[in-house]
Amino acid sequence: MMKDYIKTEQVISHPLPETEELFTQNLLSNEIKGVETNFYIIKKQKEHTFKPLNRRARVLIILSNSAVVYSKNYSYRLKEKAVLVPLDNSAVTIESTIHNVELIEVLTDLTSDDLEKMNFTNQGKFFFRYFSEGVTYREKIKSSKTVNRTFLPVNVIPRMVLGSVQTEGPDQVKAHRHPMLEQLFWGLPGNHCLVKADEQEKHFGEKTLLHIPHGSEHSIKVETGKHMHYLWLDFFQDLESVSYIDDAHLPDKD
Ligand SMILES: [Fe+2]
Repeated sequence: MMKDYIKTEQVISHPLPETEELFTQNLLSNEIKGVETNFYIIKKQKEHTFKPLNRRARVLIILSNSAVVYSKNYSYRLKEKAVLVPLDNSAVTIESTIHNVELIEVLTDLTSDDLEKMNFTNQGKFFFRYFSEGVTYREKIKSSKTVNRTFLPVNVIPRMVLGSVQTEGPDQVKAHRHPMLEQLFWGLPGNHCLVKADEQEKHFGEKTLLHIPHGSEHSIKVETGKHMHYLWLDFFQDLESVSYIDDAHLPDKD
């Protein structure tokens, strides 16, 4: 067993120098083929423009409660944490207001089949969902007190789905495997749990990106008095296997 079987990378947390307007950190570089993950801090009252992409999709996970988003024809003033996906190849600008904006950019390669599935005709539009608007679901491997939410549903970006899991210890996510997808976790504020994959167990905290080893049997434990709150990002190998989501994620009773 490799010493670092479960790969993690935490954001460097020292304060930004006065002269810097932007902080970026590429996380777990080249860990998953066709997936790039970058952490950004946009200093207060500054902005950053994300340039158009070629054959790649961009997901922006805004981790701060206020920001302004501009694309070609639209602008939104965000009032809480949100997931944004530009649905075309125009540039997107994020402007911070009175506080720094922290965000995660996820870039995924698109195949010819993906590009055919995506609708790039809506110039300047984007998919947008606040964390609080995420649709809740149940899962057999999770306790009834766990709150699961989907932020990026199936079919916005082909082969990528994203959501969150939240619970209080003692609790667990039971051991499971999903060899048809690659999975990343991002630790949200206060997250403190133990991720086990095959023989390795590793602490998983906040501001950390974690890669579930591909095909491994994995489970998560959260101890009494501890909080578990993370984003999960699923990257499927093909369009057919995305049906796993409908099989595993059961609608909430209420
Ligand atoms: Fe999993």
